[in-house]
Amino acid sequence: HDYDLLVVGSANADLVIGVDRRPGSGETVLGSDLAVHPGGKGANQAVAAARLGARTALLARVGEDDHGRLLLDSQRTAGVDTAGVLVGGAPTGVALITVDPSGDNSIVVSPGANARLSPGDIRASARLLAAARVVSLQLEIPLKTVAEVVRTATAGFGDRPGPRVVLNPSPPAPLPTDVLAACDPLVVNEHEARFLLSDGPAGSSEDPEVWAEALLSRGPRSVVVTLGGEGALVADRDRTVLVPSLAVPVVDTTGAGDAFTGALAWRLGLGDELEDAVRFAVRVGAAAVTRAGAQASFPDAGEVAAL
Ligand code: RIB
Ligand code: NA
Repeated sequence: HDYDLLVVGSANADLVIGVDRRPGSGETVLGSDLAVHPGGKGANQAVAAARLGARTALLARVGEDDHGRLLLDSQRTAGVDTAGVLVGGAPTGVALITVDPSGDNSIVVSPGANARLSPGDIRASARLLAAARVVSLQLEIPLKTVAEVVRTATAGFGDRPGPRVVLNPSPPAPLPTDVLAACDPLVVNEHEARFLLSDGPAGSSEDPEVWAEALLSRGPRSVVVTLGGEGALVADRDRTVLVPSLAVPVVDTTGAGDAFTGALAWRLGLGDELEDAVRFAVRVGAAAVTRAGAQASFPDAGEVAAL
């Protein structure tokens, strides 16, 4: 395999403003100076993994514009193979982000070129899937494109199995049965877990173990529920384990979930057991919340080892 990890997903320019509090409907507030950072859940995962030393490729679509160039630059600087980043069709995706004093964020994404990443693009780049141990997906690209990746990965390549599938359903949307069944793991935060379980009693439970078990019963091979400062729950058919996080000062949580998932997917590609991969990934996520921005806040391997 040429790649430990292939990320198929979004690339956005993050337009970030710090606020004392978010405006309500019809209200105006003043915020900080504007910062423009490379972001997008797919691009973030790829940078997180590459910065840790992973052999990583990104399959994505950006516009032929300054934002697109910013994103390609950040991928290349981190060491991501960008041969699979398609250019054109629409302006680069943009995320409007406010960050409050507690480090929490609110995000509105305009998908732009991400919405034009098509099943045909996936078929044309199948060689990337054949060359990767793990493929990691999120939901800022069309669901039919995600489904095409899953179909290709599940079918494999002749006598060679396709890559293991990791999916973070963010922003949450209903998932087809075959997509759910391929996830190993499905990675969700509280919000995404409740969304996927909103048609049953587990969705209104306060107990993450109940979410994990209910999600497992929907078909994925394994489930990881991220719990912010509490760590992450790891569940498969045999057991459910809580992996605690580290106590760190929180500056900005933007992209920390992507850093977690990118690191997790990479470690699975190296052959780690799921629980070990999660133990590593919680430290990557913890480092990421201690600094501003998404990609700019992701740690290298030395920092993770020192934590
Ligand atoms: O998960 C954080 C990311 O969500 C940001 O970088 C933004 O682009 C949105 O995709
Ligand atoms: Na951060």
